[in-house]
Amino acid sequence: MSKQRISIRQARPGLIVADDIYNASNQLVISKGVVLTDRIITRLKFNSITEFNIILERKETPKLAQDMSYSQKVRESAEFKEFQSAFTEKVTAFKGELNKLTDKNESININELLEHTTDLLQKTRNGIHVFDMLHCMREYDDITYVHCMNVSLLSNVFGQWMKLPEKELELLTLAGLLHDIGKLSLPNELVNKQEKLTPSDYVTIKTHTIQGYNILRNKGLDPRIADAALMHHERCDGSGYPYRLKGDKIEPFAKIIGILDVYDAMTSARVYRPALSPFEAISVFESEGLQKYDPAYILLFLEKIVQAYVGNRVRLSNGAEGEIRLINQHALSKPIIQLGSSFIDLSKERELSVAAIL
Ligand SMILES: [Fe+2]
Ligand SMILES: [Fe+2]
Repeated sequence: MSKQRISIRQARPGLIVADDIYNASNQLVISKGVVLTDRIITRLKFNSITEFNIILERKETPKLAQDMSYSQKVRESAEFKEFQSAFTEKVTAFKGELNKLTDKNESININELLEHTTDLLQKTRNGIHVFDMLHCMREYDDITYVHCMNVSLLSNVFGQWMKLPEKELELLTLAGLLHDIGKLSLPNELVNKQEKLTPSDYVTIKTHTIQGYNILRNKGLDPRIADAALMHHERCDGSGYPYRLKGDKIEPFAKIIGILDVYDAMTSARVYRPALSPFEAISVFESEGLQKYDPAYILLFLEKIVQAYVGNRVRLSNGAEGEIRLINQHALSKPIIQLGSSFIDLSKERELSVAAIL
């Protein structure tokens, strides 16, 4: 067996890892013999692995096709291709309308705005499917518009999970669509800046909440829409901005959009980092503290995502593959996994986590 050393930039799905790969803290990231997938490459990048050995000259076998990662399978589906082209078209149209809105004299045509979201939702099978589609989208330049569209789609799915009446569901979807409209009043270079933000950049960025509120409050809309723009960065424990509001002082729509906003930011690819997998995103929510969010919303949200993957095959952080069998209510990112005839409770295995959905 001959080996070749490659850099992470040369890594591509299908290559086989020749040796066990450890991270800087000496934890096993991937075992030797594992076939690379998009998810595993992401994991390597996440662990700052810059180069490693692969096995040379392996002929591709049918096993490899079955081993396609979950996101590869989604990306290659006809449904996804259709969704992606519709999404691109909708974002362009939505961009024009959003820009008109920042002009104080323009009124809002709610139906036209909502049409973009509802048309896209019709192209998907169910709620979690929307999450999968968005997770597989390529990185876009128009980050703000794409992000607003994503949050709007997620708001609609979440509102359905909450069984909101039709009118409320529409309002929540619209609030998601408009939550970051204040960013359009900020300098473009700042909103799309790829280097680390300076403390003064942060001060400016944070004003998008108040700017958004000012754009929306006199448009004759339900006041919750403007409040969601103002308060979506407030957190229940008072750690948010702009006013450090706590618990009940925060508009419920803003609490919901605050969760979807963070989730979308984590699970979308950015130039400076890859997208996190749903389980990685859930574990970030857990480690950052669920007390930041309203328990009624955050638990419903995380549970629904995890539940959607029960029965799915996953690869663990040590390279082993198994199936998600049961959810741990107290540690949602750490389900119980069946490996052959044995079961592993990830909540009891501190070192192990779900690295990829297969
Ligand atoms: Fe925001
Ligand atoms: Fe946002």
